[in-house]
Amino acid sequence: MSPDSLFMSVNSIDSAASPPAIGSSAPIQVVAGRYQLERILGVGGMAIVFRAFDRLAAHFNHPSPYVALKIFKEEFAGFTDANYLLYSEYALLATLNHPNIVRSFQFDIDATTERAFLTLEFLKGMTLDQWLIENPLGTNLPKITPMLLEIIDAVDYSHQHNIVHGDLKPSNIMLTQNGCVLFDFGLGQMLSGDLSILPKISRKRFNAWTPKYAAPELLEDISLTTKTDIFALSCIIYELLTGQNPYYIDKKTKYTVKPTKPKDLSKKQWATLCCGLAIKPHDRLITAQELKNAFQPYKKRYFYWF
Ligand SMILES: Nc1ncnc2c1ncn2[C@@H]1O[C@H](COP(=O)(O)OP(=O)(O)O)[C@@H](O)[C@H]1O
Ligand SMILES: [Mg+2]
Repeated sequence: MSPDSLFMSVNSIDSAASPPAIGSSAPIQVVAGRYQLERILGVGGMAIVFRAFDRLAAHFNHPSPYVALKIFKEEFAGFTDANYLLYSEYALLATLNHPNIVRSFQFDIDATTERAFLTLEFLKGMTLDQWLIENPLGTNLPKITPMLLEIIDAVDYSHQHNIVHGDLKPSNIMLTQNGCVLFDFGLGQMLSGDLSILPKISRKRFNAWTPKYAAPELLEDISLTTKTDIFALSCIIYELLTGQNPYYIDKKTKYTVKPTKPKDLSKKQWATLCCGLAIKPHDRLITAQELKNAFQPYKKRYFYWF
């Protein structure tokens, strides 16, 4: 069954109805005999993500038997390398263990539909692109700092494990009750280490990435590096503070970054952020760790002499 027909059947399900137990013959969509699709959580450039009721977990009385189930859209169904992307997302996430990075549970292929799927921790909240719609001017530094630090920390942790995300943007970050959570490592890569041998599939192959946050060198089809993530991360920080993307597409020069200093950034923070937004990768000399240090609230130290 195609995701579009899954879509139809899912739309017809009353998500408030209590799900049938294992063994029930209710005519609803169940993936791999286990995950009962309830509703669509989101649609990305390549995938549809459903909230799914995990019948096995429920059978064993798990208190929260829900997962997010990611499956490719119909138009990518014929691409066998799409399955590699989904597997790679699963494998990269399985090596990461951080409170601000989504957890992956299982990669499998449904025997009936022969479609690959991935299950993930179910995140409740709103993505940062939705947050930006509600906050079109961004927000001030003190208010946004905890969110910034969580996002930067997730990227820093991932870089320390030699993993680049490859598609950092507000719609790949969820603001939950427990803070910001980074997800969608579908275009991620391990730069060195055992998983670096996983197939690397060109972004252009699927034409499903967002140039708005892509480092300029990626337009030249240069491979991902931590610096490409730093560029995207700096764009996100700027946008959360101002509501605007720091650069616009100039048809003649391709990309021109013309950011102006957000009002409540210190000179040092601004210098650090500008370094992250540098067009030329060799000028982009900061790491995620350095960005984190720049946005760490200044702790006043008082020395008392007795
Ligand atoms: N673990 C999750 N929990 C809840 N919603 C999710 C989860 N993962 C993804 N989503 C929703 O699905 C959308 C698409 O997922 P994503 O992984 O970004 O797909 P794509 O690779 O196509 O961009 C997201 O923008 C988000 O709204
Ligand atoms: Mg996405």
